[in-house]
Amino acid sequence: MANKKIIIIGGGVIGLGIGWQLAKAGTTVTIYERSQAGRAASWAAAGMLAPLAEAHSEEPELLKLGSQSLARYPQWVGELEADGGLSIGYRVEGTLIVGLEPDDTHQLRHLYTAQQDLGLNVEWLTGREAREIESVLSPRVTAAIRCATDYQVDNRLMVRALQRAYQVYGGVLHENSTIEKIVIENGTATGVQTQDGFQTADALILAAGCWSAQIEGLPDTIIPPVRPVKGQMLALQMEAGITVKNVIRTVRARYSTSVYLVPRTDGRLIVGATSEEMGFDTRLTAGGVFELLRGAWEAVPSVYELPILETWAGLRPGSRDNAPILGKTPVENLIYATGHYRNGILLTPITAYEIAKLILTGETSETIAPFQLDRFLRQ
Ligand code: GLY
Repeated sequence: MANKKIIIIGGGVIGLGIGWQLAKAGTTVTIYERSQAGRAASWAAAGMLAPLAEAHSEEPELLKLGSQSLARYPQWVGELEADGGLSIGYRVEGTLIVGLEPDDTHQLRHLYTAQQDLGLNVEWLTGREAREIESVLSPRVTAAIRCATDYQVDNRLMVRALQRAYQVYGGVLHENSTIEKIVIENGTATGVQTQDGFQTADALILAAGCWSAQIEGLPDTIIPPVRPVKGQMLALQMEAGITVKNVIRTVRARYSTSVYLVPRTDGRLIVGATSEEMGFDTRLTAGGVFELLRGAWEAVPSVYELPILETWAGLRPGSRDNAPILGKTPVENLIYATGHYRNGILLTPITAYEIAKLILTGETSETIAPFQLDRFLRQ
């Protein structure tokens, strides 16, 4: 399908990543983005590449997909930095999951056992061993799990690089451009209705994140089960003597909220995140920001001194089973790439490479086959 016309609905990292790969392969690609490209969940994210820390024993397929996507990251970073013309802040210091009191240690031990059962590369540390790696950790840290291969990338730099790389290869981007509906004729997607009229396409890719279920024109039976899950976040400015090197995540069994701290190369320390079912509400709340600051301060007391640079809230596109929805649908030429929930940045390379391959060859790879929409239709 290299010489065909593809329309992508949604200009986040998923839409831009697929668009870049397709445009690079010689396809004519147009993206319709309801707001500004990459400024929704892609911008709000912390950029953690954490298949291990986010692993749940009941989601082995998702863990496998995350690990496969992480393995593609070195190739992705090299290719994207060359095409996009900027560094995207890929860092490989690893992740420490810490507990602060005996109940947390029990929960950590439970997580560690589950991770070991899954055969993951994790290491148990005492509080002292954790502080030897990350000296700013609180003396209250009782134990930690080291996930040495859970990395991070600067998602905002990745957005910028993807947008440039996509446009360098001739990809067309319409921002502030909501499509009115997907047009389906005789079981085949033929194009989209926009404010400028009908635009025909040989294939449509729905990559609209938490807005995916709201797109008009889809038969009720194939509306993707994706909803917004709000996450409040903030950024602190690290200062001399108060610098964090690893990604730090807390496990709190009681009283406090678990948080994560993600240090950026530019000195920002990202602190996240709440997880709230509040529809499309993106307001910050006193309670949300308080929980983040308290959680960060409990793990790294010296953050008390740091200036606050920014606060924001984003909407994760959460699917019914927490896994993305990738690949063909019962409608011919309609492809889904949505519902990436807590792992959108991690899963961007595998999604972009595999969905581009699907468009170019017509074949669904074994990698994405378990994530097709039909898993919900069978239930
Ligand atoms: N992956 C982190 C979050 O969704 O908050």
